[in-house]
Amino acid sequence: MLAGDDHKSLRSIIFNFLNGERLRTAFLDDAEQVMSLLMSSWKDGSLISAKNEAIKFSFYVMIKEILNVDPGEPEMHKLMREYNELIKGIAAIPLNLPGTSYWKALKSREKILKIFERKMEEREKNGDENPRILERDDLLNWLMKNTAYGLEEIGDTLLQTLFGGHDTTSRAISLMVYFLDDCPRAVQQLREEHLHIVKKKRRERESKLRWDDFKAMEFTKYYVIPHGCTVITHFLAVHLDPNLLRILLHFDPWRWMGSSDIKMKNFMPFGGGPRLCPGAELSRMEMMVFLHHLLLNYSWELAEPDHPISLPFVDFPKGLPVKVHPLSYK
Ligand code: HEM
Repeated sequence: MLAGDDHKSLRSIIFNFLNGERLRTAFLDDAEQVMSLLMSSWKDGSLISAKNEAIKFSFYVMIKEILNVDPGEPEMHKLMREYNELIKGIAAIPLNLPGTSYWKALKSREKILKIFERKMEEREKNGDENPRILERDDLLNWLMKNTAYGLEEIGDTLLQTLFGGHDTTSRAISLMVYFLDDCPRAVQQLREEHLHIVKKKRRERESKLRWDDFKAMEFTKYYVIPHGCTVITHFLAVHLDPNLLRILLHFDPWRWMGSSDIKMKNFMPFGGGPRLCPGAELSRMEMMVFLHHLLLNYSWELAEPDHPISLPFVDFPKGLPVKVHPLSYK
């Protein structure tokens, strides 16, 4: 785990990368475009793996913002393949012998670094004359311009950001689809809320989602922990308080509405204090974009039973297979 100056420096890089302006423009536009691309292959009755679609969604968004690589480019597929191998090695026994998960993860890291290196060389060669780079100041560009980092440090920073920003959000999206599948009342209430927003936008002759739209998503939206609360917490234990376990284990999105004790002190998925997750706002935005388009364009049902397990990360053993059916609310 990073500490001291290294930790401070990573936080300042991430905060710069996730500044409000970028979230409201580049990230939001990318999330919408990626979602449209994914939905273009979801035909009536298609069987899709919600887990894989969620993985593609957040991976494509993060890679676009980190490296300015588009979903259709061969590099995207290569990065995804190698990244998946790398992740398998994260919780593996560190046994560097041919064939082990750890060994494969190190090989994949090398291949990913090669791609980063090629990108850096391209940019050094083209400099500011390449309009594609100027158009989009991605994280790699920012690191090259504002730090004295070499390939290893740039690679680690990009990978840490990708890990923090991709795995978490994609797993949260899968859980969202899973729990909503079993709660038609919540789907109905959400759909009404999102339809209301879309109709208002249509009257104002707007089609793209804007940041303000999220503020109007009262039921969809998170609860903000009031400024000034002092909390010293063991985050896992907070979620396992036996007095609340029965309530917390039950999917009940209405618990966040109105006044309830639970919302303030018993739910801290983004941690807190000096290590509070800097990507909380980004992940909420991505989840809302995914949900917005899913709700308004499709109904879905689980094609076969699948349940989340945690080994060591949240996962769906069967990939959360769902059947989708197009709707025509828009
Ligand atoms: C549902 C999605 C997410 C969840 C549940 C989540 C959760 C967390 C938690 C609990 C921590 C604190 C870890 C600790 O106390 O040591 C954390 C830290 C962090 N998260 Fe997230 N996160 C999410 C999305 C993101 C996104 C989209 C990014 C974007 C890059 C991100 C980047 C980071 C980073 C860089 C840290 C380390 C902060 C530090 O050590 O100062 N996370 N996250």
